[in-house]
Amino acid sequence: MELRNFGPTQREVAVVGQGTWYLETAKRASATAALRRGLDLGMTHIDTAELYGSGAAEEVVAEAIAGRRDAVFLVSKVLPQNASRKGTMLACERSLARLQTNRLDCYLLHWRGRYPLEDTFAAFDQLQREGKIRSWGVSNFDVSDLDEAQKIVGDGRIACNQVLYHLQERAIEHAVIPWCEKHGVAVVAYSPFGHGSFPGPRTAGGRVLQEIAEAHHATPRQVALRFLVRRPSVFTIPKASTAEHAGENAGTGDLRLTSAEIARIDTAFPLGPRPSSLPVL
Ligand SMILES: NC(=O)c1ccc[n+]([C@@H]2O[C@H](COP(=O)([O-])OP(=O)(O)OC[C@H]3O[C@@H](n4cnc5c(N)ncnc54)[C@H](OP(=O)(O)O)[C@@H]3O)[C@@H](O)[C@H]2O)c1
Repeated sequence: MELRNFGPTQREVAVVGQGTWYLETAKRASATAALRRGLDLGMTHIDTAELYGSGAAEEVVAEAIAGRRDAVFLVSKVLPQNASRKGTMLACERSLARLQTNRLDCYLLHWRGRYPLEDTFAAFDQLQREGKIRSWGVSNFDVSDLDEAQKIVGDGRIACNQVLYHLQERAIEHAVIPWCEKHGVAVVAYSPFGHGSFPGPRTAGGRVLQEIAEAHHATPRQVALRFLVRRPSVFTIPKASTAEHAGENAGTGDLRLTSAEIARIDTAFPLGPRPSSLPVL
């Protein structure tokens, strides 16, 4: 599995990791086998959240990573309604207990809510000083949110921005990715398969993926994931609830696309116009 520097953290993190949204709805044995197969194959970045299954997904993760915590880059998220200074501290403690660990590698604000960012970030700072989190980041932040966050904490503090990114939703390429690259913030692409609505083999785009996949003895999903991480700032976290799916996703690590193939995918799944409200960076 390819590793990359994760924003300013000085940590090398797997370019393809593992999501866990709805993982608790799968059979427990299958869900834990999927995460473990993923870990075996180098997908050591595991993304979870207190939101997922109201904590049940974190418990599945705990079971899957038991005995191999040190090999994992473990990420969880605080809900905006808990993201006051005190609430963030308490939410983190609850996540640590469910995950049966004493630290997170990265802790994210799931999305912006009513609490001032200053309060959430002050809690993140304190958690970091206490060794309960190694780094922290944000999620679902657009450029104006990122500007505001950066004004509060300066450069080199925000580890990542976790955002929606898949072949049919490339809006972050307009301004969010350039902003993150300028400020050294890792971009983590969530829902890389469109949350289960992956382009089918009978669609024009699906055929392009299939043809490119065949040329590499790969699969359309592996081609899609590799396209998403073609820029060095980007990571991705597909969710799989079977070991077979996890194994396929991990295979992306060895795949390399040519610039002609990237251009073909770019044409088949166009970026779409830049919203006029976006600043030019
Ligand atoms: N920060 C945020 O606001 C936010 C929002 C959404 C998601 N996320 C994170 O991003 C992760 C990924 O996004 P997502 O769960 O929305 O969706 P996704 O990863 O785009 O898609 C998951 C779907 O793809 C299927 N799948 C995975 N690998 C497959 C394979 N090799 N072959 C066929 N099907 C495959 C899964 O099926 P099976 O389950 O049957 O394997 C599941 O139905 C989440 O789990 C979560 O950790 C974060």
